[in-house]
Amino acid sequence: PRAPLMDTFGRAVSYLRVSVTDRCDFRCVYCMAEHMTFLPKPELLTLEELDRLCSAFVARGVKKLRLTGGEPLVRRDVMTLFRSLSRHLDSGALEELTLTTNGSQLARFAKELAACGVKRINVSLDTLDPQRFRALTRWGDLPKVLAGIDAAQDAGIHVKLNAVALAGENEDEIPSLIEWAHGRDMDVSLIEVMPLGETGAERIDQYLPLTTVRERLAQRWTLEDIAFRTGGPARYVSIKETGGRLGFITPLTHNFCEGCNRVRVTCTGTLYMCLGQDDAADLRSPLRASESDDKLHAALDDAIFRKPKGHDFVIDRPGRPPALRRHMSVTGG
Ligand code: GTP
Ligand code: 5AD
Ligand code: SF4
Repeated sequence: PRAPLMDTFGRAVSYLRVSVTDRCDFRCVYCMAEHMTFLPKPELLTLEELDRLCSAFVARGVKKLRLTGGEPLVRRDVMTLFRSLSRHLDSGALEELTLTTNGSQLARFAKELAACGVKRINVSLDTLDPQRFRALTRWGDLPKVLAGIDAAQDAGIHVKLNAVALAGENEDEIPSLIEWAHGRDMDVSLIEVMPLGETGAERIDQYLPLTTVRERLAQRWTLEDIAFRTGGPARYVSIKETGGRLGFITPLTHNFCEGCNRVRVTCTGTLYMCLGQDDAADLRSPLRASESDDKLHAALDDAIFRKPKGHDFVIDRPGRPPALRRHMSVTGG
């Protein structure tokens, strides 16, 4: 067996996030610009190559695999990849196979996902107001997403909602979104907006620190810190009055890099060791260089050795470019 991946700070890499496409059928205002140039399709790794890449990580101790995008469910035949990756669940090598989705295609794929062993998914949903939803996503259809969530729950999949906290956009709605979700047996994670990629808006205008949100929520409800962890960056509280869990993802107000267990791969096979840093490693060349995985594993060792201690996100003054040029959709968060 090959050695598990471990960085120079003693952090084991047990969680791989794979962006299977940079495309998306929405254009959320904090994520993308209205007009985006996407990668030409021939640049993408094939589904077979993605499978091989993911499997190499599983062989190196990855226990949790999350397909992201863009929107993973717009990648053609993505279910073929889920189906084939599910063999690692069957063998016990992998503990969790999952995805983060905007929900637009979920109604179509929920049953198949469940059949592939997907037990828990994250759905991005920032508002329950159809007009607001349309504005935030630039053209998304809220009822379709809600139908997708229903389909996932009907298929026996646990749904967690991700909501980016946005000043002046959805901040008034955060309590009702939480109540709605908890009433339907869904956890919620709130996320601080991160400075990745040009969107045409100023992130400083959108940024709402979750310390503020938490203070406000604590005036309304009884929040209790809990030890519940999913392997992701969220710190959870339980809310006594709603009986549900609420996660806080706070890259700006409370850096969580110390416990980082993850790396991400783009749809072209570029490995990013940190969401908030530019250093990356090309895995596509070693993958394509030979049928044996030896070169790939050597490239992994090399790259993980360089995994940085953490990110240094700041939400900057207006008029300055975002800290990182690439969009969130390149690495899938
Ligand atoms: P769980 O399995 O439910 O814990 O999921 P997760 O939080 O790991 O994944 P999800 O795709 O739902 O991501 C939620 C948010 O967390 C996204 O906005 C990601 O960009 C962000 N996130 C995940 N990992 C990191 C990280 O290492 N650094 C930073 N800054 N943000 C991250
Ligand atoms: N900052 C914070 N979260 C973002 N997401 C997309 N772009 C950003 C950003 N700039 C969120 C999406 C999704 C998750 C994967 O990342 O809403 O829930
Ligand atoms: Fe698409 Fe998700 Fe980005 Fe919205 S946040 S544009 S749904 S990738």
